[in-house]
Amino acid sequence: MTKRIFSGAQPTGQLHIGNYLGALKNWVALQDEYEAFYCIVNLHAITLPQEPAALRKATLDLARIYLAAGVDPERSTIFIQSDVPEHAELAWTLSCIARMGELERMTQFKDKGKGNAERAGVGLFTYPILMAADILLYQTDLVPVGQDQKQHLELTRDLAERFNRDYGETFRVPEPYIPQAGASIKSLQEPERKMSKSDENAAGSIFLLDDADTVTKKIKRAVTDSGTTIEFDETRPAINNLLTIYRLLTNKREEECVAHFAGKGYGAFKAELAEATVEFLRPFQERVKQYDDETLLAILKPGAEKARAIASETLANVYLKLGIK
Ligand code: TRP
Repeated sequence: MTKRIFSGAQPTGQLHIGNYLGALKNWVALQDEYEAFYCIVNLHAITLPQEPAALRKATLDLARIYLAAGVDPERSTIFIQSDVPEHAELAWTLSCIARMGELERMTQFKDKGKGNAERAGVGLFTYPILMAADILLYQTDLVPVGQDQKQHLELTRDLAERFNRDYGETFRVPEPYIPQAGASIKSLQEPERKMSKSDENAAGSIFLLDDADTVTKKIKRAVTDSGTTIEFDETRPAINNLLTIYRLLTNKREEECVAHFAGKGYGAFKAELAEATVEFLRPFQERVKQYDDETLLAILKPGAEKARAIASETLANVYLKLGIK
């Protein structure tokens, strides 16, 4: 049987090339082999304050980005989390199974809550339970996630196993899918740190909707390390990162990239990287524009219906097991 995968992204901030190369590009590749569900997790977005009009717009814009990246609604199910109310319902149920201690160990809460538990929202604290609900509703086999979400996936597995043990077999226990080529793209300004949507310094990220001029400037100004050769070298995080972006955008092998830039300096390399990035972004941005709201809704509505058919079955079984229905 075809295995099922589930993943999602939050409609907050602008997506950057790190999100594309680290996640979306893999989602696109995975839809050939798996039955894929790709969700726009707007209920996760409100764990931090959002401007309502901006959130509404960002939710549809993220759908446009999934589609422009190549997520194919003929093969994958694309939907908005809040269109399937079972996500919130299962999250409540699982919150009665989860333990304070296990949530307190989540490192992302400590980061996002800025260490101030007194002031942090409760939703930010219980956020990983909603993520577990997302995944478990679909009897998911595999979850493509980055390193920063692995801990949440462990929690998801623990909750599924606990429920199955206490109430009988109900959930498939999902595995993480960490793609081999799933490079974690770093900031252009601080190559020790991840390229991040919430980075205050926009110069560190190439956004998917940046224009050609901006992209070229950002790449020109990207920090470099000592040494002059253009090589993959973990001890030189700046060039390692830039060359990785080049490799993934051009779909070349490592050896090809290195051979191509042998004897060339940073100037020539950066010019080519800028060109490759602009060449990628131009048609991407054209595709983003093609999806007007009407076209989007014609994809998202059936997506939600298909998702709901599965999610409601899982939730009905959970309620039955618990004595709720
Ligand atoms: N928590 C994820 C993030 O911040 C987004 C997410 C929500 C997710 N639900 C998910 C990812 C389910 C994978 C599977 O990036």
